[in-house]
Amino acid sequence: MADAGFTSSTREIPAVSAVPHHIAIIMDGNGRWARKRFMPRVAGHSRGVDALRNVIRACMDRGVGYLTVFAFSSENWRRPIEEVSFLMQLFIKSLQKEVDRLHSNGIRFRVIGDLSRFDPALVTMIRDAESLTAENTRFNLTIAANYGGRWEILDAVEKMLARHPDKRTGFTEEDLAVELSTRFAPEPDLFIRTGGEKRISNFLLWQLAYSELYFTDTLWPDFDAAALDLAIASYKGRERRFGRTSEQVLEAGAAEGKGTTPAGRHA
Ligand code: IPE
Ligand code: IPE
Ligand code: MG
Repeated sequence: MADAGFTSSTREIPAVSAVPHHIAIIMDGNGRWARKRFMPRVAGHSRGVDALRNVIRACMDRGVGYLTVFAFSSENWRRPIEEVSFLMQLFIKSLQKEVDRLHSNGIRFRVIGDLSRFDPALVTMIRDAESLTAENTRFNLTIAANYGGRWEILDAVEKMLARHPDKRTGFTEEDLAVELSTRFAPEPDLFIRTGGEKRISNFLLWQLAYSELYFTDTLWPDFDAAALDLAIASYKGRERRFGRTSEQVLEAGAAEGKGTTPAGRHA
């Protein structure tokens, strides 16, 4: 079931904090980063792991609580077999190398997505890493692997129906949201896509309903703490209205004695 902090942005206006509580990232542009350097595409994926390590640290330093990153989409199986195999090996190697460090830094590690297509050895490694870090509370790192937003919604619907075998109608958003693979996390405050494309590519379709969207041309291997700060600065300048008027946002902020924009600039 959901954690205590669970809210649905369409049903209840969530608390807005100066630093995004949850950041979701489509880590795109690895292949182009490598091609620009006359390197094989997969070299970009290796460098992408380094970028992720730095971004995790930067998020922790800035007080972000949740980071959810898109590592492999349900559509990425369409890539050349050599690239898919390389990505799977890289996943295994990175887990072997990083899990202890994640754990010693108090990071809770999770993988979301349909793991049924993965090598059983990889699935075991993932589940072991999740169990090892299950009590950690300092930071939540979630890797979306063989993940697709549509798959997740269908999966949640099936789970919801199984949980309520006698019910046919009258479901609420909460009934579905608690079956999503991200049920442990608040909805993302900030969505970042690197690599210049301006699309969602089947990532977190349900959860991004009211997230602030940020697109940058920076290729993922080049995305660093400074680049993250630019994204957070952009976020701080947004007025998160959740359907209300700007005047209502101002009033609500004044009544609460703090801003309801991320920067709190109406405080
Ligand atoms: C993102 O980088 C990583 C994965 C999808 C696994 P890409 O591999 O998509 O890089 P580009 O978009 O081709 O540059
Ligand atoms: C999205 O990137 C998936 C990941 C970053 C893992 P893609 O590179 O696969 O997205 P499209 O194909 O350009 O939409
Ligand atoms: Mg891409």
